[in-house]
Amino acid sequence: MIDVQDVSLRYPSAKEDTIRGISFEVREGEIFGFLGPSGAGKSTMQRILTGTLRDYRGSVRIFESEIRHRTRWYYESIGVDFEFPNFYGKFTAMENLKYFASLYSCGTADPSELLERVGLHLDAHKKVANYSKGMKMRLGFVRSLLHDPKLLFLDEPTSGLDPANARILKDMILEQKQLGKTIILTTHNMHDAEELCDRVAFIVDGRIKVVDTPHALRRSQADTKVEYSFSYNGKESRNITALSDLANAHDFQSALKEGTLTSIHSKEQTLEDVFIALTGRRLQ
Ligand SMILES: Nc1ncnc2c1ncn2[C@@H]1O[C@H](COP(=O)(O)OP(=O)(O)O)[C@@H](O)[C@H]1O
Ligand SMILES: [Mg+2]
Repeated sequence: MIDVQDVSLRYPSAKEDTIRGISFEVREGEIFGFLGPSGAGKSTMQRILTGTLRDYRGSVRIFESEIRHRTRWYYESIGVDFEFPNFYGKFTAMENLKYFASLYSCGTADPSELLERVGLHLDAHKKVANYSKGMKMRLGFVRSLLHDPKLLFLDEPTSGLDPANARILKDMILEQKQLGKTIILTTHNMHDAEELCDRVAFIVDGRIKVVDTPHALRRSQADTKVEYSFSYNGKESRNITALSDLANAHDFQSALKEGTLTSIHSKEQTLEDVFIALTGRRLQ
């Protein structure tokens, strides 16, 4: 569905490339994530994929045509949720959604239903200028779904939302996947990447470091650690070892035989641990 080969981009005002030779493919029906810290180039990559930045080098093929030559038709088939969504502040949320719906030649969803889904129905007739950042984010998200697009680009959709609203959006994203949509999601949140994405690209300084499933990534670096405690001579002792080395941990083995183990925890690496190991950078 998406085939990106060796893409680079320099903003006219910049001295260096912001995107530096990125290649990846996205299959139909998958949620593909870009995980990386602020400034990595995630939003820039989204602007290239959505046809906003056309001065890139390399090839970006979506629906089998080069996105540099996109036509108006492209916007009928994609939904875009921007990192900082723009609306007409003097108009209400309902008026905004009705206006954006009118730009599509295909059928569109009922704006009131979408507003209800994200808990904005009571604010539907408030001017967007009076909306909080989180309310605008939720409005931006449902706007991207108005025309039931088969390909969705979501730029940090849950960033800055409270946990309850983030949960609603994540459920709606998974529901879109169930409907067979293809989704490109950018985030700096490892939990979102892990929960939502089929595959994740680690992106730093305009380069992709690795692409794999969150599961495979978490198992790719070093051993899982095991922390255990046991009572010995009336005292509580605690130790930590690699899971693969547990058979050689004599204190663990004797505690196991003697029934004196009091706790055992496996401590798997988080996606951020792996991110740091592979890129040398933190996510925040
Ligand atoms: N319009 C622009 N002109 C010049 N540089 C830009 C522009 N937009 C973003 N950048 C720079 O490109 C880099 C990547 O930004 P961005 O794609 O927004 O990263 P992310 O979304 O991962 O935080 C940053 O160094 C940013 O300052
Ligand atoms: Mg961004």
